[in-house]
Amino acid sequence: MADTLKQMEKVLILFQDGSEYLVRLEEKKLHTHLGTIDLGELIGKDYGDVVKTSTGKVGFILRPTLLEEIMKMKRRTQIVYPKDSSYIALKLDVKEGDKVIDSGVGSGAMCAVLARHVGKTGKVFAYERRKEFAELARENLKEWGLLDRVEIKVKDIGEGFDEKDVDALFLDVPDPWNYVKVCWEALRGGGRFAVVCPTTNQVQETLKEINNLPFVKVEVWESLFRAYKPVHERFRPVDRMVAHTAYMIFAVKVKEKEARI
Ligand SMILES: C[S@@+](CC[C@H](N)C(=O)[O-])C[C@H]1O[C@@H](n2cnc3c(N)ncnc32)[C@H](O)[C@@H]1O
Repeated sequence: MADTLKQMEKVLILFQDGSEYLVRLEEKKLHTHLGTIDLGELIGKDYGDVVKTSTGKVGFILRPTLLEEIMKMKRRTQIVYPKDSSYIALKLDVKEGDKVIDSGVGSGAMCAVLARHVGKTGKVFAYERRKEFAELARENLKEWGLLDRVEIKVKDIGEGFDEKDVDALFLDVPDPWNYVKVCWEALRGGGRFAVVCPTTNQVQETLKEINNLPFVKVEVWESLFRAYKPVHERFRPVDRMVAHTAYMIFAVKVKEKEARI
């Protein structure tokens, strides 16, 4: 059945030159370098429909994905990019009904991916020490319809986490090594732990702490992503790539240090 587009629905308008606009459907004009579109006139249309600008240029109405939302989101902090957050969510094995912790929540990019994975019956407990970032994350999560799965707490994690026995815990703060112990305490036995660090010295400091506690399956990964030009006669990589985002450290909690391998 066709999804008829409603007032205030969010859509992605894609033009043939590759430019994209993420907009809400309301009685308002969208001004682009290819002409204007009356957004109110798109109400009642369907995803996949074609629209024309005032200058006759063709655009396509698409349903925005969470990845596209994250890449265009309002941010005031570094964010975890989808190439890393998607892998982290799988390594943490986050699934419907899980209880997980995210800290610091920052702009809410990683939190959104975790919230998507815990589903309607799970919960993300998201810690952030700065009120303004907590507010921004709240705004972003509300925009994406994920806020009801997240409890945002304005709290410094140096004071510890309120939850015990969480299924997974994600840590993204500038000094993660200072919080490895409180993370271990909040996790259930067998609970999965992930940390991101942009620099190697942060990884080393954090590994030292992880290796001193009952964690197993300690791994460090980096993901390198390269886009290709989708042109069949001249198929080749695009000229530029993002060389580095962050290192990802993973570990699994066990209860006894002696059992460490
Ligand atoms: C790089 S940002 C997190 C970005 C976030 N993961 C995302 O994907 O949008 C790091 C955040 O951790 C917060 N933070 C740093 N130390 C903290 C602490 N001790 N307790 C709680 N939040 C902390 C900072 O205020 C900042 O917002």
